[in-house]
Amino acid sequence: MIPQSFIQDLLSRLDIVDVVESHLPLKRAGTNLVACCPFHSERSPSFTVSPAKQFYHCFGCGAHGNAIGFVMEYSGLGFIEAIKELAARTGMSVPEVRGEAPATSSAEMTQSLAEVLRAAAVFFKAELKRSEVAVAYLKGRGLTGEIAARFGLGFAPPGWQNLAAVFPDYRAQVLVDAGLVIEGDEGKRYDRFRDRIMFPIVNPRGNIVGFGGRVLGPGEPKYLNSPETPVFEKGREIYGLYQGRGAIRASGRVIVVEGYMDVVALAQHGIDDVVATLGTATTSFHVQKLFKQAGRVVFCFDGDEAGRRAAWRALENCLGQLVDGKEVAFAFLPEGEDPDSCVRKTGRERFEALIRDAAPLSEFLLRELTHPLDLTTAEGRASLLQTAKPLVKQIAAPALGAMVRRRLAELAGLDQAEVGALFGIQSGPWSRRSPERTRRIAPVSLQRHVLRCLLLAPRLAAAVDRSICDADDPDTRATRALVDYLAANPDLDERVLVALVSDHFRGSTHEAALNSAAAEIIEVRMGEFDAAAELAGAMSQIKDLRRKARFAELGDKPLASLSADERTELRRLQAERREPIGGPTGSIGPVIN
Ligand code: UTP
Ligand code: MN
Repeated sequence: MIPQSFIQDLLSRLDIVDVVESHLPLKRAGTNLVACCPFHSERSPSFTVSPAKQFYHCFGCGAHGNAIGFVMEYSGLGFIEAIKELAARTGMSVPEVRGEAPATSSAEMTQSLAEVLRAAAVFFKAELKRSEVAVAYLKGRGLTGEIAARFGLGFAPPGWQNLAAVFPDYRAQVLVDAGLVIEGDEGKRYDRFRDRIMFPIVNPRGNIVGFGGRVLGPGEPKYLNSPETPVFEKGREIYGLYQGRGAIRASGRVIVVEGYMDVVALAQHGIDDVVATLGTATTSFHVQKLFKQAGRVVFCFDGDEAGRRAAWRALENCLGQLVDGKEVAFAFLPEGEDPDSCVRKTGRERFEALIRDAAPLSEFLLRELTHPLDLTTAEGRASLLQTAKPLVKQIAAPALGAMVRRRLAELAGLDQAEVGALFGIQSGPWSRRSPERTRRIAPVSLQRHVLRCLLLAPRLAAAVDRSICDADDPDTRATRALVDYLAANPDLDERVLVALVSDHFRGSTHEAALNSAAAEIIEVRMGEFDAAAELAGAMSQIKDLRRKARFAELGDKPLASLSADERTELRRLQAERREPIGGPTGSIGPVIN
């Protein structure tokens, strides 16, 4: 664990405006700054950065967080990595991770793994230059030296212990840990990669975490990959993301292909917004990561049975990650082609057209579902709904989900309500919301309003009446946690309080409520908001509503069935009902209940 004091220090020294601005240009808009959101595609800027709260929020897609969260999202880094990157900006050094001894050594190990992998890559690159066969192979596949250099391609020469010339201690355990050296039965050691073209796999920080090595001609296995190591988890890395990140941001699109060679060949033809998974299925983790980089994800898999199966797997893993406003599409290549062969045969323009005309996810889904069925029979139509149900229910984007259900209803000859009922879905609340997004702060519950007041004026925590904190909804639970946190940490730097709270509750069950409350106040100017009065008003309204509920509860029972205490309570409630109540002035948006 990184100590909270360090994070507070870090957040106090950083300015989120600088952090964001080093990635995208910001324009001033009142007290805040705005830009077109890097997390979804849009034409007019909804992405808002507040210097006063050290927090960002996108009114379009709902993304929000502090400087640490921004770096995690934007650069696809883990928490510790993001902290390190930000600490480096301020010249702070991240304290040794305390308490857990193994954590320290694992940090050291990560460090040395990165170093040996980098040294190996330098060696492989130099060897490529020296090897006529390897250069001829890559030239034969249409690659120039420039592209080979961009992807850091190299060559592991034939021979069993070439790396002994690179690393003075060939017996060092770290070489085995890094997956570069294999230890055989009798302790004999040899290089894992021999006589192979080397594709370094680079993580979002720009560190090499592993290699894929391709045989020069026919031979098995075609690709040999690094084993899983502490720095390399195959199912989580995305090949080409580091090299393609700029192009992906610029185009708002990312093309997902199957192979290393596909990524490199497309780059050779000027198509740079391309990535590949590492010979694994596309997981929801991948999809999530890609959605953070681009608004449109186009899968373009090989034109064979395996490619089509991979496309369907990808579709299944996308459903739960879909967001209205983001797009997933599937491009299908002619039988027997892969993106590499296709772009080399037909050229960039034709390939781009293929990507442009890719089938939207909903179309691919419905096509695949209906294809094997006979929809002229009731049985066929029933079967359609049966197979569609588990998939359609996973669609996380409300509007898209509704449209797919409508189309299914048409195909099945039922009305939408019947399909909704079959799927166990009521018409979603989204349809009642106004379609255009307004800059107004959303109406919220009174409890949420309490949270907003505390984030704007943390000193008021002491004034919170604990009796309003005993309900069991997410906002109330978050209020309780926040009040406790503020009470236990009276010396927090108020200038970065919102950012700090967001960080402290990262990953907890209160994260959503607290971050939403923080996002809702991003346009509130500190000086123009009477937090004390708002808080008092919200608390008194909460108490009043509770009184009314209790009054109704007791009033519904026959008088004779009430105990003496209950009768007294009822009389008291009746008397209190006539007293006027205070309420929030509504200066930061309406409050509903
Ligand atoms: P492909 O066979 O489509 O590879 O496998 P490719 O990149 O198009 O390579 P070329 O064009 O034949 O040279 C797709 C991906 O599956 C993984 C690799 O990540 C490869 O890029 N794979 C494939 C392996 O890990 N091992 C293998 O033996 C084969
Ligand atoms: Mn290929």
